[in-house]
Amino acid sequence: MPLQIIVGAQWGDEGKGRIVDWFAAKADIVARYNGGDNAGHSVTVGDTLFKLHLVPSGIIHGHAIAFMGSGMVVNPGSLFKEMDMLAGAGVDVSPKRLRISHAAHLITPAHQALDKANEAARGKANIGTTGRGIGPAYTDKAKRSGLRMADLLAPDFLERLGLHTDDANQQLNLLGAPYVNPSDVMDEYRGYIEILRPHIADCSSELTHALKAGKRLLAEGAQGTLLDLDHGTYPFVTSSSTIATGVFVGLGLGVTAAQNAVVSGVCKAFQTRVGSGPFPTEVKDDLAARLRGTGENPWDEFGTTTGRPRRVGWLDGVLLRYAVQINGLTELVMTKLDILSGIETLKLCVAYKHGNKTITDLPFGPTDLDGYEPVYEEYPGWQEDVSAMRDWGELPLAAHRYLEAIARLTDIPVRLVSVGPEREQIVEIS
Ligand code: IMP
Repeated sequence: MPLQIIVGAQWGDEGKGRIVDWFAAKADIVARYNGGDNAGHSVTVGDTLFKLHLVPSGIIHGHAIAFMGSGMVVNPGSLFKEMDMLAGAGVDVSPKRLRISHAAHLITPAHQALDKANEAARGKANIGTTGRGIGPAYTDKAKRSGLRMADLLAPDFLERLGLHTDDANQQLNLLGAPYVNPSDVMDEYRGYIEILRPHIADCSSELTHALKAGKRLLAEGAQGTLLDLDHGTYPFVTSSSTIATGVFVGLGLGVTAAQNAVVSGVCKAFQTRVGSGPFPTEVKDDLAARLRGTGENPWDEFGTTTGRPRRVGWLDGVLLRYAVQINGLTELVMTKLDILSGIETLKLCVAYKHGNKTITDLPFGPTDLDGYEPVYEEYPGWQEDVSAMRDWGELPLAAHRYLEAIARLTDIPVRLVSVGPEREQIVEIS
């Protein structure tokens, strides 16, 4: 298995970071293929909690080389904070270990200002973005006016950055938003050039050679399937290809690299979503508070990037089956099973009711979920604390039944189950 793809099977925040960390123990290379610092991947190792937004989570393992692919948008300021944090914790983030694609796009202060101004202009119809400048950076990429990593090396880079900021200021002016000072931006970036220069690489070539040489590559997705620009709950999505096929464009790999690939869909034992948009199985009140947690623990359901409380609900099997289809998932990894302990009856959405019809597949994907009512199957819950359990045989029978129902519904096996935030709190199902 030279290539393994880890993808979020829901609306992001599935716990991909710690799952990548688990699989990275056996990988030679870990590579992020989409998104920017809108992502928040947490990994707990002993007493240390690593919160990563840009750098692939697998870098925490000393042996793996990390790549940031061309499908990413990179805010250098955020990147440096993260590199400092990692270096302070003894993680090697030198240029030989952290490679950044020459074709990854830069996020600038003007992109961040535009993201906030666009959201304010949308009013009640806002998307609920993270405000990190993601949409405007990908807009510039599609408009063919973006600035890429390799542009940092050009003699006229600062001049182009100034022009980009002037252009953004015209749009900010129309939106009635404050102006971004081009000289401040140029001063800020002047300091970034020399630090980034040795990290800039031809990822496509390096990764293709590594695969040919038999190296094991773990591709790490950010956000989740339902936030994919083309195949998610549009327009309440992010601006990148979050799904498994995004790997090929976002890392510069040929499709033949997909042969025998393992595609692992990470999925919480329940459903969560941040920001606006449809959520058929959403729950409110006491159950929501119970699933969300209080916010005292870093793994409670509050955004790693923005701190916003996440919306929560029952696991949606219709959307999960869609994730299996659109990603070609070969296995599921279920996280946060421990959170369900103590709930008397668990509900699993197996179909939707639409008018008089009961449907198990959405006619046009998940874009328009209005008018679809979840149809639930109920499963007995369990009272036991599962967080110290490490074997399938130890898990309560009720947990077996719940997980088996999910495997039946999706027609793929559940390979791993996480029962707590620590690195070793995993039940491997052979
Ligand atoms: P953007 O990616 O900041 O443009 O935000 C677009 C939508 O994606 C919003 O609903 C965000 O809350 C959501 N989103 C972006 N990144 C993440 C993530 O890493 N986890 C969960 N939701 C995210």
